[in-house]
Amino acid sequence: MRRGIVRVLPLLLAAAGVAQAYPFGPPPSKTGAVAVAGRPAEPRCTDCHTGNPANDPSGSLELLDLPSAYEPGRLYTVRLRLTHVWDPPPIEPRWGFQVQAVRKETGDSAGVWVVSAADSYQVLPTSAQLPQFARRRYLEHTIDGIHAGQPGPAVEWALHWQAPPGDSGLVYFFAAGNSANGDNRSSGDYIFTEVESLPCAASTDAPRARSLPAVPELTLASANPFRDEVSFRVWLPGTEEVSLEIFDLQGRLVRVLARARYEPGAYILYWNGRNAGGVRAAAGIYLARLTGVEHPVIQVRRIILLR
Ligand code: HEC
Repeated sequence: MRRGIVRVLPLLLAAAGVAQAYPFGPPPSKTGAVAVAGRPAEPRCTDCHTGNPANDPSGSLELLDLPSAYEPGRLYTVRLRLTHVWDPPPIEPRWGFQVQAVRKETGDSAGVWVVSAADSYQVLPTSAQLPQFARRRYLEHTIDGIHAGQPGPAVEWALHWQAPPGDSGLVYFFAAGNSANGDNRSSGDYIFTEVESLPCAASTDAPRARSLPAVPELTLASANPFRDEVSFRVWLPGTEEVSLEIFDLQGRLVRVLARARYEPGAYILYWNGRNAGGVRAAAGIYLARLTGVEHPVIQVRRIILLR
């Protein structure tokens, strides 16, 4: 099961009636998204962070620097700003977020969240219990991504979103933020939500291709070293037959993540740290290798599995 810890821990905590630090970031699908294209509305962080109504007038959540329309394939840096004035201020405020981009036409994720090694963020798939959101991905803080101890009144996260490769129509952004009082209980915190939407820029003159690589490219899309799951971003400038495979340092094939013909675009592929038989691979260094058939490209990324 992917990300078992992330899902199971809050339940254990709830069952025990205790609150403890929840170091892995929020569980997925809690952005408070409205119902889109037949997909139901999502709950909010207030599922657990109880005690105060969402969007109290003492604060706000804003997505800043969004363009008025997205150009297909372009990488945007947007800022998520959480403002909240505490009265009285808590001893150790802690601030966190979860955000997603959704296509209006399908209700599924739009574009790709790009996480660099310097960011303390993670991209989560939805939990297996919520198949209606199976095609959604969530960007959120990890334990190092919270602004701990900062009194505010505002904190910001810089987020990198790559627009979908073609015209995907209107894209919604749904974000949730938590101004937590750091008392190690999920009650008494303040949850704020935000919705934005972006149309696609009229794109007949497509000047965008310049900034994108002309050959297939493999990059990491989540934190490395990793424990439960690692994700890769594969960029394909044209229709391409590619394989993405995991090898150990002895050159043995551990797992095939993809071996097929793909349309042009950016793809996110996940490895859950297990071999083809579903057995957890041992801790250590592995190589993720992208091989193209048409292009004689081979790209290798080194990943480190912790246990
Ligand atoms: C399934 C229950 C649950 C949900 C849903 C949930 N949280 Fe939490 N969260 C917790 C618990 C338990 C804690 C630990 C108590 C605390 O520190 O407040 C916590 C702590 C936090 C903290 C403090 C950081 C820390 O590690 O102590 C932040 C920030 C946070 N949550 C953000 C969010 C955001 C943003 C959402 C919605 C996108 C969310 N949480 C949804 C259970 C949950």
